[in-house]
Amino acid sequence: MEYSWIEITVAALFLTAAITLWISRGSGWLSWRFWRNAMVVSSLVMSGILLWLTVDTVNKVRPGAGRVPPWTVINHEIGLQWDPERRWEVPVIGKETGFFGKVYSPQEAYALINKGKLTIQSRNCMECHTLLGNGAYFAPDLTRSWLDPWWKERIMPIVGAKTREAAMKAWLINPPQYPQGKRIMPNLGLTDEELTAVVAFLKWMSAINTNGFPPYFGQKGRTGGR
Ligand code: HEC
Repeated sequence: MEYSWIEITVAALFLTAAITLWISRGSGWLSWRFWRNAMVVSSLVMSGILLWLTVDTVNKVRPGAGRVPPWTVINHEIGLQWDPERRWEVPVIGKETGFFGKVYSPQEAYALINKGKLTIQSRNCMECHTLLGNGAYFAPDLTRSWLDPWWKERIMPIVGAKTREAAMKAWLINPPQYPQGKRIMPNLGLTDEELTAVVAFLKWMSAINTNGFPPYFGQKGRTGGR
């Protein structure tokens, strides 16, 4: 069951007023006791709601729960679909195609994506890029990079790759070889294994439901940094 902020706010105010009135029976509303009770009750009710919202959010952002895809999403086709009601694009997970020709188990997929995350941290990619909007604004945001039409339209023909993951890997192995804009990404000396892991991490990240971030991705293609 989903509650909106207005229902939660009205319920919290109602609960605070009801409990305060009940425990302050016999005192007038102008008395010191009434307002002390109101202060204590509202703090307790709001702390309870904060706790509930925190648990609710943590559950929703866990991989496999609602907004964040399971690790095994790397085995699937991923696309974006316009949601007319919310007016932003939501990721859609399609049929199983495997990742570099292999279907990863949940444990294997987790290990690979985690290695990708550690590789990205070790090279400080966020010194130039943003991930989910965090980082620096020198180079394109990488949240949806996997879904960038650019891989298929430009990079696959240039590097002679048959799949999107192969194109990404072939480009990332030496970015200055095929510069695409005014700013050039340095060669960070990633190994073959590290590259596969980085591509897996970026594929997984592209399937996160980010409430439409980055905006207009589908229309504009690459975002930022050019
Ligand atoms: C010194 C700055 C810098 C660092 C550090 C850097 N990049 Fe880049 N990256 C760029 C620039 C600039 C571009 C655009 C290059 C172009 O157009 O030729 C780019 C482009 C990309 C793209 C293509 C994005 C798209 O969808 O168009 C990917 C993927 C990428 N970088 C991944 C990484 C990863 C992974 C790391 C860390 C291992 C990293 N980058 C570190 C500067 C950087």
